[in-house]
Parts: sequence; structure tokens; C-alpha cells
Amino acid sequence: MDNNYLKDIFEPYDRLITINICGTEYQVPENNTILRGLQFIDLERISEAELCWNGECLDCQVWIKNGDKEKAAMSCRTNVTDGMIITRMSEALR
Ligand code: FES
Repeated sequence: MDNNYLKDIFEPYDRLITINICGTEYQVPENNTILRGLQFIDLERISEAELCWNGECLDCQVWIKNGDKEKAAMSCRTNVTDGMIITRMSEALR
């Protein structure tokens, strides 16, 4: 894989952080949106998905564990945080 291409699509980061998606842990770049994290995990799948990447299509929705509840967020507009738990995601991301 061409590493220069990867440098261009991700915001600069020094380390990977751990997020949990539907029970599985993944390492994703800090300082990036959840959607970029998903792209980091599965470059081809997310790169080819029909997504606007700018907050308009609403197809990138994920649900994040928030105490005993979960809250919906647009993955293209929400940055990853270490230990974040994503419980569900929209059809377009699966
Ligand atoms: S990718 Fe379209 S709203 Fe997030």
C-alpha cells in the first residue's frame, strides 16, 4: 500500500488509540474522525461507500455508549477518543 496516500487522507497523528466497535477492539489514529478511523480499519470498504464526508447525507451515523445509554453521532463530524465504545452503526458503514 502507498503510505503517502495514507498520510494525505488522515489528519496528522502521533499514535493509535483503541476504540471498540460492536464488541471488537480496533486501533485507529488519534486526532481523526470516527469515519476516518473506520477507513483506517477497512480502507477499501469505507473509501468506496457512498458518503458525503461533510455532514450532509447522514448515512454515517454511529451510536456511542454514553453511560447506560447510547447517543447518536455523525461519524464524519465526531472525533475518536481513547476507549470509545460504538454500539451500532448505520447500514452504509457495515
Ligand atoms: S458522511 Fe455524510 S453526513 Fe457523514
